Amino acid sequence: MKTKATTALDVPASAAEAPPRNPALPLSTNTHLLNWVDKMARLTRPAAIHWVDGSQEENDALCAQLVSSGTFIRLNQELWPGCYYARSDASDVARVEDRTFVCSLSKDHAGPTNNWEEPFRMRRRLKDLFSGSMQGRTMYVLPFSMGPVESPLSQIGVQLTDSPYVVVNMRIMARIGTKVFEEIDRDRKRVVPCIHSVGMPLPPGQKDVPWPCNPEKYIVHFPETREIWSYGSGYGGNALLGKKCFALRIASNIARDEGWMAEHMLILGVENPQGEKTYLAAAFPSACGKTNLAMLIPPQAFPGWKVWTVGDDIAWIRPDENGVLRAINPEAGFFGVAPGTSLRTNPNAMATISRNTIFTNTAVTLEGGVWWEGMTETPPAECLDWQGNVWTPEIAQRTGAKAAHPNARFTAPARQCPCIDPDWENPRGVPLGAIVFGGRRADTMPLVFQAFNWSSGVYIGATMGSETTAAAGGAVGKVRRDPMAMLPFCGYHMGDYFRHWIKMQRSLSVTPRIFHVNWFRRGPDGNFLWPGFAENMRVLKWIVDRARGNAAGRETPIGWMPRYEELEWNGLEFRREDFESLQAFHRPEWRREVLGHAELFMDLHDHLPPQMIYERELLICRL
Ligand code: OXD
Ligand code: MN
Repeated sequence: MKTKATTALDVPASAAEAPPRNPALPLSTNTHLLNWVDKMARLTRPAAIHWVDGSQEENDALCAQLVSSGTFIRLNQELWPGCYYARSDASDVARVEDRTFVCSLSKDHAGPTNNWEEPFRMRRRLKDLFSGSMQGRTMYVLPFSMGPVESPLSQIGVQLTDSPYVVVNMRIMARIGTKVFEEIDRDRKRVVPCIHSVGMPLPPGQKDVPWPCNPEKYIVHFPETREIWSYGSGYGGNALLGKKCFALRIASNIARDEGWMAEHMLILGVENPQGEKTYLAAAFPSACGKTNLAMLIPPQAFPGWKVWTVGDDIAWIRPDENGVLRAINPEAGFFGVAPGTSLRTNPNAMATISRNTIFTNTAVTLEGGVWWEGMTETPPAECLDWQGNVWTPEIAQRTGAKAAHPNARFTAPARQCPCIDPDWENPRGVPLGAIVFGGRRADTMPLVFQAFNWSSGVYIGATMGSETTAAAGGAVGKVRRDPMAMLPFCGYHMGDYFRHWIKMQRSLSVTPRIFHVNWFRRGPDGNFLWPGFAENMRVLKWIVDRARGNAAGRETPIGWMPRYEELEWNGLEFRREDFESLQAFHRPEWRREVLGHAELFMDLHDHLPPQMIYERELLICRL
């Protein structure tokens, strides 16, 4: 009998698993991309190149590699399934605004609110820094889409990075991998090149450290060529280049040129008991509770009302074919500040981060969980702080040491959020009924008021201020002007940005109503006048009522305000006179406020649109 030769085809199916993919083989045929990767590899000289496919297997392997290199600790999988923990270098804990540059061809285009450097000089500097910077490391070719891959509102980038920590974080924060390479190969969209190095080459024989970085940092944007170069940091917005660098600084330039808006705004939907939904986008500076508002759970006195989350940080907003503003959240995850997040302040966030989450710079408990200040009323008896030192409540009392760094973060998939909006990935975006601005103000600013029209609303956003907190450094309690919460994120001249906002109205057939809120007003005793958190639902409801034409309001010199009767008070004891203090408009405070606006305008005067001057004059007249 003739015996058959054994071939691979004879192997039983279970054993015939495909051989592992060779990650060095390109996953794209786009010659521009291939040439650029080649050019950058010749500059940075990595030991290997890895084309990122975004698969679960690849992610598992990268996480295992991060555990063995000491960057990651695998948390207790019973308590925190799928979760990892990282500690950064103590010198690399936040965005570095003073090392962030917008290198437009002309300094005037970057404007006075951005650091600028002559682009040719900066390119020479970067070439020196990146030369051999990836030696001994792997260069990952990470394709990402900001927004759902198939959405016409999305944008594509490719990040070259020598940090596997960045790859696994970006996998949560954006859509990455094969489907994005396929989109690049179809050649229908611009690809924004982003190059990132932690700036710590490993010559032969040199041992790596758990958190490689460089004391010298450069976060650089070239707005005309739509490029990002980031050197020296592995942390957050410095290194996850899809977020602030692309989705705000570069995207604000693209948006101005193409007639849309890239904003530092959360997006939420308010659903009433009749099932009608109104979407709002809201801009607040850091430390004003954006994530808490985006995930608010209405108080019990609001049966049938629901708040849905679309995004907690960035909104890309564009008029549709009918002149209606529609917004997408370009991100796929939440990169939230952990301290202060708890079952009391934000139960939806706690549920979101309960699995498949990366924690950075929180404390780690003895049973392999995470902890941070404000997470529970009773702190753990002992844990390891964000620098790996033993931390106990007694040590904290004696030395003031924090268990978690104040900017400790979670990176969590948005789809895990219990209140994620069913339309959060709608490629057309969601229609906006209102835009809300807000800041942290102890005085002057009432709980809520509505702008008279689009141009007075733009003025309110442009002159927005917020008190500096201890976390932001500098003098505490001083009002810092942070126009539309975009001060560190607008990639061009702030005066031109106001002009773009004014111009946007021309493409709209329905203009969303614009509001200003302040949850932080204090009484003469220094206490907050408003309970905040879930009670903010009362304000959201009034905003929705106004946007739908269901509340009359009353006119004041600064805008439309609610009458006491127009807020839902069911379930909250709040006296009419306390409401009057909360809403009070004090002329002397507003005189000071308007002088503050003048200071901002002085810096921007040569690019300021006339409407801003006109709105200021009108306000002065009304005062
Ligand atoms: C952020 C910020 O990290 O605005 O989202 O600083
Ligand atoms: Mn932000």
